[in-house]
This record gives sequence, structure tokens and C-alpha cells, in this order.
Amino acid sequence: MKVGVPKEIKAEENRVALTPAGVSALVGHGHTVLVEKGAGVGSGLLDDEYMAMGARILPTKEDVWDQAEMIIKVKEPLGPEFGLIKDHILFTYFHLSADLELTKKLLATDVKAVAYETIQLADGSLPLLAPMSEVAGRLSIQMGARCLESIGGGKGILLSGVSGVPPAKVVILGAGIAGSNACFVAVGMGARVSILDINPAKLRYIHDVMGGHVVTIMSNGANIDEEVMSADLVVGTILIPGAKAPKLVTRDMIKRMKKGSAIVDISVDQGGCTETTKPTTHSQPTYIVDDVVHYAVANMPGAVPRTSTFALTNSTLSYALALADKGLDGAINDDPALKKGVNILNKRLTYQAVAEAFNMEYSEL
Ligand SMILES: NC(=O)c1ccc[n+]([C@@H]2O[C@H](COP(=O)([O-])OP(=O)(O)OC[C@H]3O[C@@H](n4cnc5c(N)ncnc54)[C@H](O)[C@@H]3O)[C@@H](O)[C@H]2O)c1
Repeated sequence: MKVGVPKEIKAEENRVALTPAGVSALVGHGHTVLVEKGAGVGSGLLDDEYMAMGARILPTKEDVWDQAEMIIKVKEPLGPEFGLIKDHILFTYFHLSADLELTKKLLATDVKAVAYETIQLADGSLPLLAPMSEVAGRLSIQMGARCLESIGGGKGILLSGVSGVPPAKVVILGAGIAGSNACFVAVGMGARVSILDINPAKLRYIHDVMGGHVVTIMSNGANIDEEVMSADLVVGTILIPGAKAPKLVTRDMIKRMKKGSAIVDISVDQGGCTETTKPTTHSQPTYIVDDVVHYAVANMPGAVPRTSTFALTNSTLSYALALADKGLDGAINDDPALKKGVNILNKRLTYQAVAEAFNMEYSEL
């Protein structure tokens, strides 16, 4: 199969969908890999490194989309890319349930949209969301710490405190991949941490590995309210796979929060779990509502593109190889987890939670 790797065009997005080692694996399986010139530069990966692994470097993204049968990307297609879509297998993050316009535009094409974020293993885990959630979870505490500095609009406190001055309180909503990684870093930085989830097994895991360093709390309206009111930093990491995130932190709660506190809403890419969340970018990452600093960058791993690119390829490659080796039909027939990734096929929505989010028609694969 001819596999294309275009350069990302989203603002400040420096990740690339394949490392040179990923190219080598696809070429080793007999596929042709077409990489857009300079696609890896933002992650410190040069054209020569791709060529050494057998990639062909093409001068423009038009060339890549035109010649490839499958396109591997990082972010959803944007403006000028829509005109380039034919009947490609498009393997990337889409987050359709948070974006009606994108969904409609894709339904008007012949794309076979396979979404990283909805590939789901039998145990319910999301193997291609996990690496970026690890990155975003860990970053959220770094970013939250900056938000609490006075220069970031916050109350001017150090996450760890110092001797004689208590540390900040970090409240993490959701104890999945992003939440648990945020938790480990927040504890490592010396904050007081509590974490809430509706899944007792997730809370038990955190409790077991972190011992007495973290307070684990069952998530419900009353507990969320109590914790958020006493927080200096709230980190939102809620996910209902493929669906819009529930608004667990309401506008009224924001009004009652401590002045100069901060919210990092990682789940912004699924609409956010805070009523006041709106997506921001790396160049303008924060805004303030009712004296609470909000950070809601929708592509947080883009801040550390090199780490993220390697982590992403580690996870996507086996699925990319299956799609290239067997074609879409063969690959999804053999792998129920990959089948769950198919969001759009033959101009129909084939992922139920996305169809439900927009009250649109769902077609079973
Ligand atoms: N902004 C970014 O750059 C970025 C990067 C990576 C991931 N994400 C997003 O981060 C979010 C979390 O991803 P993840 O991989 O950690 O998901 P995950 O499935 O591992 O964790 C989500 C957790 O939320 C919990 N949850 C669901 N409803 C809840 C409720 N009412 N109260 C408390 N907990 C509840 C689930 O039980 C689960 O443990 C996703 O929306 C993902 O798309 C964003």
C-alpha cells in the first residue's frame, strides 16, 4: 500500500505521525511510504533520516495526498486538507463528537475515517489515546503550576509550598490515564492531591500504588463540589469514550472557587468537563473567568512534540501495519479493537456515540 505522511498544519502542531523507525517497519512489510518534505522537522526528525529508512520525500502535501491510499496524521483534517481527501483510509485523531462541522464535512467525502481515539480493547481501554493522555496528564501539572504563578494570573503560590508554608491543593477529576499521570507528577512536585472517579477499580489502583500520598474520592455531585471549592488547581480528565464530556464543574461552582485558583481542562478535546471551558492554543493558552485561570489547550502534547511523536508511533504502528497489510476490511475483520476505530465509512457515521452527540443517523459496520 502507498502510505502518506503529510506535515501537520494545525497551529503550533509540531508532531508527525511516523518516526523513521515506523517508516522502516512499513517499508519492511513491502509498503511505500511517502513523507512530505520537512514533515518531521518540528519533532527534530530530518528528511534524510526518513530517506535512510526507505521513505520517499515528496515536495508538497498535495503530492502526498494525491499518491497515497492511506494517510497517517496526528490531528484532524483542516481547511485546505478537505479538498485533498479522496477515498483514503485516514488514520488520525478526529474527536468528532466535539465537532459537528468537521463531522459534516467528512461525511460529504469518500473518506474511510479510522479514529485513533475510539480504537478500544476488550477491557475498555483506549490504546491510542493512552500515550497522549500520559503526556497531557504529566504536562497538566507543569502548566497548572505556571497558572498559579502571579504572572500567569494566579494567586501566586508554589505548588510544593516551602517549609512552614503549606503546599497547594490539586484536585484531579478522573483517575484514568491522564488523571493518574497528573496525580503522579503532582505528588512528585509536593502538592496535596485528591482524585475522584466513578470507577472504584481506578481509585483502588491509585490508592494501592500511592499509599497515603493521595486522597481517593468517589465522584458524585456533592464530593466534586466540596473538593473543587477547596482546590488551588483543578485538573479535568473525564472521558466517556467517543462522547462529549459531562460538565462536572458548573459556572456556579467557578464563581464560588477561591480567587486566583486554576483549572487545566485536559478533556477540552471532547468538549471539556467545565462549563466555562473553551479551546485555547499554545500561543494563547489561558483566559480568566471569575478570577479562575483556565488552561484548555486542545493539543497539549504538541508542546513536547519529540516525546509525543515517539510515544504516538510506538502505539499506532501495529494498527497502521495491519491496515496497510490487509486493507481496511481485512484489518477490521481480524481485530475488533480496530473495528471500533471506524467512525465514517461510505458517507455514513459508524460510531454510535458520535451519531448520538449530533442526533444523526448511525449505521452499524
Ligand atoms: N487536551 C489534550 O491535549 C489531550 C491530550 C490527550 C488526551 N486528552 C483527553 O483527556 C481525556 C482523558 O483521557 P484518558 O485517556 O485519561 O481517558 P481514560 O478513559 O483513561 O480516563 C477517563 C476517566 O474518567 C472517568 N470518569 C468518567 N465519568 C466520570 C465522572 N462523572 N466523574 C469522575 N470520573 C469520571 C472514567 O471512569 C475514567 O477513569 C480525554 O477526553 C482525552 O481525549 C486531551
